[in-house]
Amino acid sequence: MSISGKKILIAISGGIAAYKIHFLIRDFVKKGAEVQVIMTPDAEQFVTKLSISTLSKKPVYTDFYSDNGTWNSHVELALWADVMLVAPCTANTLSKMVHGMCDNLVIATYMSAKCPVFIAPAMDLDMYVHPSTRKNLEMAESFGHVVIPAESGELASGLIGQGRMAEPETISNTIENFFNSQQEAQTLRGKVVLITAGPTYEALDPVRFIGNHSSGKMGFSLAEEASKRGAKVILISGPTAQTINDKNVELHKITSAKEMLAKVFEFYDTIDIGIASAAVADYAPKEVAKEKIKKNDENLTLELVKNPDILKTMGEKKTHQFLVGFALETQNEEENAKGKLEKKNLDMIVLNSLRDEGAGFKNDTNKIKIFTRTEKKEFDLKSKDEVAKDILNFVESQLLK
Ligand code: C5P
Repeated sequence: MSISGKKILIAISGGIAAYKIHFLIRDFVKKGAEVQVIMTPDAEQFVTKLSISTLSKKPVYTDFYSDNGTWNSHVELALWADVMLVAPCTANTLSKMVHGMCDNLVIATYMSAKCPVFIAPAMDLDMYVHPSTRKNLEMAESFGHVVIPAESGELASGLIGQGRMAEPETISNTIENFFNSQQEAQTLRGKVVLITAGPTYEALDPVRFIGNHSSGKMGFSLAEEASKRGAKVILISGPTAQTINDKNVELHKITSAKEMLAKVFEFYDTIDIGIASAAVADYAPKEVAKEKIKKNDENLTLELVKNPDILKTMGEKKTHQFLVGFALETQNEEENAKGKLEKKNLDMIVLNSLRDEGAGFKNDTNKIKIFTRTEKKEFDLKSKDEVAKDILNFVESQLLK
């Protein structure tokens, strides 16, 4: 059963359909899932914490603080979850979710969640068809959330129409199908992927460095996508503003090329795939001044020495690893990229040309060409998340050969 061992966070808001959640919790727990429930203050009018916690086997939280003075961390709750389900989701809670009206524990937790979110709306029929609800549901879907539509039937008001929360069985099946499809897509399960990302900073003195404009976005998108596909990811990144919160991604922050090299070789023997997307500084100052360099002289000459080529070293020591490099070129792009493939003993190289608008360092988009020794594939301009998918699809196709 694919739901077994999964962590399901259920947020109950204040609607009569809340009573049905007991059946759903029992079903999830029976199937081996861990269930944590949080409620809006109004939900307590419909169900009791005691009945819910008895079924979920965990304390139920309605507020940021418990009676015993402990803080209920919405961030921890959110990051714990593999999925979050808001059921029943009232018009009020839906509206707060899509507009960021963060005035209770449920909304704060929802806004801290990085996992997939499922919403099972429940309201009276006129409220359900009201343009504001329609718009809010559309917005929720545009955020990537899954709306489990309300069903038709007799409503608590006595009116007949659409608005009843989907049956627990429908909700349970939707979530189970989600986990099943996730498992099917775990094409890199069992693989260890090492990714280098971001720039490196080479110190000149205690406050200055030589660096570059790499944002690290491409490497972080690759790490997220590889993790989604079930890989264990070792992400070694220079200084960037990117963040990642993913159980399968081990983030190691370094500053200089030498530190990146050392970190890579802590793991090199254990990895299956190495992807070098970092913009490593080619040169570093020969001497790092102990004190801040003073601006006394009209001219200042810096002596730079070549940094280690991390990827080339990986290529030289390759035993079984599949190695992917990046080439950012401004001229003779294809020739240079193919040259690097050979020189660094790579299996595949991703070329982005600075001549292409939207490609390269700081953009959220990229336009790439991929080369192996025998193949060439060209891609359209896409978001870096989409480019990460193309790159990993290509890697997977090569591994199958
Ligand atoms: O030789 P060039 O710097 O153009 O090669 C780019 C590729 O090599 C990228 O994949 C980059 O991450 C990697 N590289 C490296 N160490 C260096 C320079 C580049 O790993 N010192």
